Amino acid sequence: MCGIVGYIGHREAYPIIIKGLKRLEYRGYDSAGVVLYDEKDLKLSKTKGKVSDLEERVAKEISTKGTIGIGHTRWATHGVPNDVNSHPHLSNSGNLAIIHNGIIENYEPLKKELIKRGYTFKSDTDTEVLVNLIEEVQKNENIKLGKAVQIALNQVVGAYAICVFDKQKPDEIVVARLGSPLAIGIGENEFFIASDASPFIEYTSNAIYLEDEEMAIVRLNKDLKIRKIKDDSLVDPYIQELQMNLEQIEKGGYDHFMMKEIYEQPNVIKDTYRGRLHANEGLIKMAGIEDNIDKFINAQRILIVACGTSWHAGLVAEYIFEEFARIPVEVEYASEFRYRNPIIGDKDVLIAISQSGETADTLAAIKLAKEKGAFVFGVCNVVGSSISRETHAGAYTHAGPEIGVASTKAFTTQITVLTMIALRLAKAKGTLSISDYHRYLSELETIPEKVSEALHTNDSAKAIATVFKDATNFLYLGRGYNFPVALEGALKLKEISYIHAEGYPAAEMKHGPIALIDEQMPVVVIAPKQGHYDKVVSNIQEIKSRSGKIIAVVTKGDEQVRALADHVIEIPETSDAMSPLLTTIPLQLLSYHIAVMRGCNVDQPRNLAKSVTVE
Ligand code: AGP
Ligand code: GLU
Repeated sequence: MCGIVGYIGHREAYPIIIKGLKRLEYRGYDSAGVVLYDEKDLKLSKTKGKVSDLEERVAKEISTKGTIGIGHTRWATHGVPNDVNSHPHLSNSGNLAIIHNGIIENYEPLKKELIKRGYTFKSDTDTEVLVNLIEEVQKNENIKLGKAVQIALNQVVGAYAICVFDKQKPDEIVVARLGSPLAIGIGENEFFIASDASPFIEYTSNAIYLEDEEMAIVRLNKDLKIRKIKDDSLVDPYIQELQMNLEQIEKGGYDHFMMKEIYEQPNVIKDTYRGRLHANEGLIKMAGIEDNIDKFINAQRILIVACGTSWHAGLVAEYIFEEFARIPVEVEYASEFRYRNPIIGDKDVLIAISQSGETADTLAAIKLAKEKGAFVFGVCNVVGSSISRETHAGAYTHAGPEIGVASTKAFTTQITVLTMIALRLAKAKGTLSISDYHRYLSELETIPEKVSEALHTNDSAKAIATVFKDATNFLYLGRGYNFPVALEGALKLKEISYIHAEGYPAAEMKHGPIALIDEQMPVVVIAPKQGHYDKVVSNIQEIKSRSGKIIAVVTKGDEQVRALADHVIEIPETSDAMSPLLTTIPLQLLSYHIAVMRGCNVDQPRNLAKSVTVE
């Protein structure tokens, strides 16, 4: 999600900015940069790598004098991590500097138009397009920076938190926000700008958090004016007196990164389909798919390789691809696939799913598949990661850095990407009726709101956690689309609370596991109204008749299961195919609360690494 830091005031800007960027390192990034103004000119230094690498570079490249400046840590979305793609970016004239957190979806048409007007670009980023669009508006309309930013942003589709500086008017920084956080620290005749308050909390606890579609011109010796980007109307600034300490700020006020990331899911699912899902036009636009659509359509089968939670997302995708696009799918653990001399060739498509993009087994599986002639497509969360560079094509989840070792938002954004791919292929193959196709597109657009509603089950999950926190075993049951969710729920519990848990297809119970059922065995049953509801209800009755303790995840308003279960968690209704995006939420919350109650290290569980880069 990267980080932005700006300063304008009476102190030297560089020390504040560089320390502020270090404070934002927890947000995850791949590059860093800074631009300072020293009464004469802009001084820019930026690099792929860490803030410490930037410090070394600055020491060699530029003087650090100046009381105004902006700094950035980048989490690449367009353009691999390298020096040129790092921020800040300058406009063609060299007068304007910008730092940006977010995604400009319509940067390609904007870039084409700017190139026609004689602009040139050094980087592959969407951000460099924005700064030159602002310059073009400023030049054409002969207006000040603030107005130019406002007009330019009204032409932009996407998400942004930006700082823009014009060396022709070096007593102000223009900021704006849509979809990415931006806080302004109010000091004594000095202003701080940052993605959150951690870079300036030691200087001031007075902060304004811009709301979406708001902008401000931060200028010394002037009152801060906040305006609506759309219509220039003034907004009363709400100055908060911050009570949070540094650690709380980094975790967004949550106790753990895992909880913060669970609650980020509505936004990051939206970020993942932003610019790709166009329900009103009935379109899915994903370059990596469009450029290779024939390979998918003509594939004799799709193989999916992954590990852990990503493997569970692959299992969900198997159901989705086969139902929507009628393409045979096989899902394999990457660690198994790579060692069994698999039968795979140029009629196959292999999809590799990986949050980190660095999992050794998945990377090895990709290389093997490529050697055998398969077309390899990656679904990763880290731009420029090894897997994203090894695959022939791919699509990124825009989940932002996932810091908690237990994967949560990666799972739901992976399913979001895979659902869009399946719908695109279904449209190309005509394997879904037009009405069903449009219905699913519209349904996918409602998911962020429904995930937000599912997050309201937090209190229920916490109450249930108090009952079962000392259990020694758990069973998780689901059918169809929710069988993989049962596996995922069990993994979440295992890896952060260290309680043994197993996921099963609900119908498998009578083939052995039902022998485990007694009053000591909590059984989580995923029983949404869609799918094989009646069969799952029968499974619940089988468990109840053997005194199993039943925790049921049900569709809101379900009274039938409520009459049978010991505990019920209600989630909103959605289609069977999209139910995993909702049913997984209470299971994430349940495992989180049990782990916290057991005093476990939720963000860094014992024995685990966030990215398994070894075999
Ligand atoms: C999931 O909570 C675990 N952290 C782990 O299973 C993880 O999903 C697995 O190691 C795969 O990682 P990747 O998605 O980065 O490849
Ligand atoms: N989309 C911009 C880029 O890829 C900004 C990414 C970020 O939020 O750091 O450079």
